[in-house]
Amino acid sequence: MTRLFGKRGMIPLRWLGLTALALALTAAGPAAAGQGDKKPARRAILLVTFGTSVPQAQKVFAGIEEAVRRAHPGMEVRWAYTSAKIRAKLAKTGQRLDSPEEALARLMAQDYDRVAVQSLHVIPGAEYSDLAAVVRGFANMEAGFRPSLGLPLCATTDDLQVVCKAVLADLPAGRRPGEAVIFMGHGTHHPAGVVYPALAYILGKSDPLAFMATVEGYPELDAVMGELKAKGVTKAWLVPFMTVAGDHAMNDMAGDEPDSWKMRLKAAGVEAVPVMRAISENPAIVAVWLRHLDACLKTLD
Ligand code: CO
Repeated sequence: MTRLFGKRGMIPLRWLGLTALALALTAAGPAAAGQGDKKPARRAILLVTFGTSVPQAQKVFAGIEEAVRRAHPGMEVRWAYTSAKIRAKLAKTGQRLDSPEEALARLMAQDYDRVAVQSLHVIPGAEYSDLAAVVRGFANMEAGFRPSLGLPLCATTDDLQVVCKAVLADLPAGRRPGEAVIFMGHGTHHPAGVVYPALAYILGKSDPLAFMATVEGYPELDAVMGELKAKGVTKAWLVPFMTVAGDHAMNDMAGDEPDSWKMRLKAAGVEAVPVMRAISENPAIVAVWLRHLDACLKTLD
């Protein structure tokens, strides 16, 4: 195409008219750029999440994808789940999800050569580290194939400030003064687990009754319950601090078993109100991932 225009002076005018028509027709056909075409678009975005088997939570991913497509119209967008357990569970119901390795191999085989791999993980923990290793492996596989990895949600102290502001601005309107809000983070034994006490600190600076506790790490709910007692709090809102309000939110947070957060708080005399809304349903949170994706795409230029 560029060559044609470069020689423009040598092409009879009526040919140019036909060429322009052909180009216009090609551009008008939405399918033309996809299959069938020998040279597909060279850049793609691969969104990578832990995954979920909860259908309601999967809808959240559709919202993220929509925001990504809006920000990068016409770009190929694909998904991969890092959790083998979730992929196996979904496969039984006929839903075939790629691992990051499978998705990258497919993109490479289909002649994409620049892939922005955007982590939709919350912290740069074990899942993210594993993903980074996969991306490094593919970067060394074939000359010309260049994947790049975008940072997870809480990667820098600036991210933490923005994220805390975003979740505090998105609390249920029904919360009254004196009522606490407890965010449920996943938690981890990975060194990146230090992000959770950092989040707790920043949340508490903005709102003395906003707390962070984790399912599998530090800080623990017991410590938060101690603070609630010390402050005489009798009502707390429970909010998932996770990409999706999936299994942990439904069972560990809001479940009716005696060891759920809701029931433990109730046993301690605190009325607990679960909010089944994931952080990724908050556009200000998605904006942080989009910013990281932009930075990732820039490294591909
Ligand atoms: Co878990």
